[in-house]
Amino acid sequence: MNSFSFIFQYIKKHKFQYIAGIITLFVVDFSNLFIPKLTGVITDGLTAHTMNWNGVAKCLICIFLLGLLISVGRFLWRYFIFGASRSIERELRNDMFAHLEQMDVEYYNEHGTGDLMTRFTSDLNAVRMSIGPAVICVFDASVMTLMVIGQMMYYVSIPLTLLAIIPMLLICFGEIYYGKIMDKRFQARQDAISDLTDFVQESFSGVRVIKAFVRERAERYAFAAANRRSMEQNLNVVRLQSVVMPLLDVIIGLSSLVTLIYGGYLALIGEITLGRFVAFNQYIGMLVWPMLACGEAVNMFSQGAASTRRIKMVFDADPDISDAPDVTDVVQLHGDITFSHLTFLHQGHTEPTLKDINLHVPAGTTLAIIGRTGNGKTTLVNLLLRLYNTKPGMILLDGKDINHIALKTLRENIAYVPQDNFLFSDTLKSNIAFGADDWDMDSIIQATKAACIHESIVSFPDGYDTVVGERGVTLSGGQKQRSSIARALMKDAPILILDDALSAVDTDTEEHILKNLKKNRAGKTTILIAHRISTIQNADIIMVLDDGEAKEIGTHSELMQLNGIYRDMFTKQQLEARQATEGFHADIYQKGGARS
Ligand SMILES: Nc1ncnc2c1ncn2[C@@H]1O[C@H](COP(=O)(O)OP(=O)(O)OP(=O)(O)O)[C@@H](O)[C@H]1O
Ligand SMILES: [Mg+2]
Repeated sequence: MNSFSFIFQYIKKHKFQYIAGIITLFVVDFSNLFIPKLTGVITDGLTAHTMNWNGVAKCLICIFLLGLLISVGRFLWRYFIFGASRSIERELRNDMFAHLEQMDVEYYNEHGTGDLMTRFTSDLNAVRMSIGPAVICVFDASVMTLMVIGQMMYYVSIPLTLLAIIPMLLICFGEIYYGKIMDKRFQARQDAISDLTDFVQESFSGVRVIKAFVRERAERYAFAAANRRSMEQNLNVVRLQSVVMPLLDVIIGLSSLVTLIYGGYLALIGEITLGRFVAFNQYIGMLVWPMLACGEAVNMFSQGAASTRRIKMVFDADPDISDAPDVTDVVQLHGDITFSHLTFLHQGHTEPTLKDINLHVPAGTTLAIIGRTGNGKTTLVNLLLRLYNTKPGMILLDGKDINHIALKTLRENIAYVPQDNFLFSDTLKSNIAFGADDWDMDSIIQATKAACIHESIVSFPDGYDTVVGERGVTLSGGQKQRSSIARALMKDAPILILDDALSAVDTDTEEHILKNLKKNRAGKTTILIAHRISTIQNADIIMVLDDGEAKEIGTHSELMQLNGIYRDMFTKQQLEARQATEGFHADIYQKGGARS
């Protein structure tokens, strides 16, 4: 499907509005024609003394009524066509948002947020202009031009009309060529705006890092450079416009000059009456606007075409992850997980992130995954959520290949506390109830108490109605983590995944949360990812991921007996803990000594 058919399917839905608009436009233009004619009649009548005041008054009333009709008509075509274009813009925006919501995370890794935002704002606006005002311009201009020219030929003189429109033909050919160049320049300009928006978006999101590293000045320079690139692309567009628009004026002026000379001559020799000469000049004046309008329309169409292509690119991208035709729509999963020869290679990597992982996690057990950073822990749970695709048969849920479980079912049955703890800029209450369809305050409080965050929330002046800033920045790291845990607990799903979700809480709170989890999650599957052995030592199964491989699997005591990586980690962490405590004691001792 090309860009035109793509946008046409939206226009088709509003065809009646467009037809009504164009008919009204036609009526307005047609009525417009009579005004110069009536002026001509008055002029001729008064010059030849064949018209009395009565006749003049009648003509004037006709002009007044025509004016009224034109005003109502102008309102109506605006209402129909602008209304349709606004509706299409809304539909396109909704469809684009719905489409993007389906896209998988990989798509968002590749496309900048700013770039997507530009397509939602500036590009959609350009598309709207091309299917609203530009359509009006073109129809109005062509209908008006044809009618006026017809009238000029019929009412005044054919040779004079032909002479007047020759320069205008130049405009038509010129505009086709101009449109093509403009299209390319608009595309480049929109790309530059995208880059600029991307920059601004990243810069604002990363403002804390920028400040901490005192990079404000460097950011300003980089922004100025991106801004300059955007300005240059804008200037490229404006330069062309500023050459072409005055050129149009020149050609129109030329037309008027030719007709004044030749028309004047015809009037002098009595070929045409003075009234017709006056009417002819008014007609020429009426052609100025259509010519300029065509120029504007070419601008808007070129810009619209470039933007439609950019929007269509979003729609053309299909989600890699979607339901297979033979999905089973089981509603309730039990939480029995099997990894069978699970190997996974990230896009752009040569070495697999996960290598031949085999493990069975019976429903109702707690699996802990531990391993050094970058070893594939998050990747493993992302695969379980089908944020990336796995080969058939590598991950089974309740004995079924996850590729054959409906995505909605799969994700509804998993509660997830992601490592980055994203919170929306909304109240804490809404953030915590985010995944639940129906909820009440009691269930929220139950979840927040289990996540040990209730006390902190009620201590805020606005309690549960506290609005957290964008990405939850107004909360401490630990508060954010615990709010995300509460959000996941609200879901009460058969599978709960906590990805490093206790890293920012102190050991006492951690112990509390783990105790609550044990109670709340009895009989349900829980996956705990952590770096600290203290977090996971009571899990039913512990898997040590090392270099993407499941090097050790077993319970805490089994792994301790293995004398391998796990035991090594345990010893090191114990030593670190002891050193920290001893350091603390020595510190107190020193301080005490200094005082005595
Ligand atoms: N979307 C992605 N595209 C390409 N590579 C990725 C992507 N996400 C992660 N990786 C790579 O996969 C490897 C494993 O990453 P992963 O996030 O699973 O590690 P992790 O064990 O969770 O680490 P941490 O303990 O730091 O959270 C890393 O080398 C990382 O660079
Ligand atoms: Mg991780």
